[in-house]
Amino acid sequence: MHTMVVIEIKSSREIEQLKKSNAIVAEIFEKLKKTVASGVTTRELDRIAEEMILKRGAIPAFKGYRNYPATLCVSINEEVVHGIPGPRRLKEGDIVSIDVGVNLNGYFGDAAITLPVGEIDQKAKRLMEVTEKALQIGIEMARVGNRLYDISHAIQKWVESNGFSVVRDFVGHGIGKSLHEEPQIPNFGSAGQGPRLEKGMVFALEPMVNEGTHEVKILSDGWTVVTADGKRSAHFEHTIAITDGKAEILSML
Ligand code: MF3
Ligand code: CO
Repeated sequence: MHTMVVIEIKSSREIEQLKKSNAIVAEIFEKLKKTVASGVTTRELDRIAEEMILKRGAIPAFKGYRNYPATLCVSINEEVVHGIPGPRRLKEGDIVSIDVGVNLNGYFGDAAITLPVGEIDQKAKRLMEVTEKALQIGIEMARVGNRLYDISHAIQKWVESNGFSVVRDFVGHGIGKSLHEEPQIPNFGSAGQGPRLEKGMVFALEPMVNEGTHEVKILSDGWTVVTADGKRSAHFEHTIAITDGKAEILSML
């Protein structure tokens, strides 16, 4: 059976709405960058983000999504994504990935960053740098004339040539009037394959990069994704819109 993947094209009016939603996401990161420190609990970060979202007349997009219980996903060290905020305190040397989704007037924003807690070791710094650069490389490939898996391939090639691995079990996605729309956007794949990119497509690109094996498992809380080998992982995500030229990053102030 052949299943058509339909990728919605957004009008410039809709992209303006998505920019507003994503601006809230970006504001939250500006605040959290100043807040993340040794001793802070992940629940405190969650409270701050939720308050900011509600104050701006928006709704946390993750909370209640498949019964997810919080506003943020906060994933520390070997946690890859979907860590649930709680009483755990950040400590010096940790790396902490924070993911947030916002629904403003029915339009969704979604982004993630990985931050250091105090001084971190060189390998962790490198892991974070390579992951952030992987996202930038993906964004550069996200242009009219390219195909979807050109993005995937470029990310994978960059990450693996730096000795790290890309997570296979979780992927980026289209985004708009839903948090997750078609297409799925793997961080691995073959150049020259996949749907052609067109102006007005809006994607959440989100490389998840591991120090060791790409394999992951899910903890008994049903959410927290951790590396199978216990080595660390980093995650960066932006919501972007395909334009005539360079993709526009919506989740940036
Ligand atoms: N950015 C992630 C994603 O797009 C976070 C989703 S967390 C969930 O899948 F709680 F909403 F599932
Ligand atoms: Co996402």
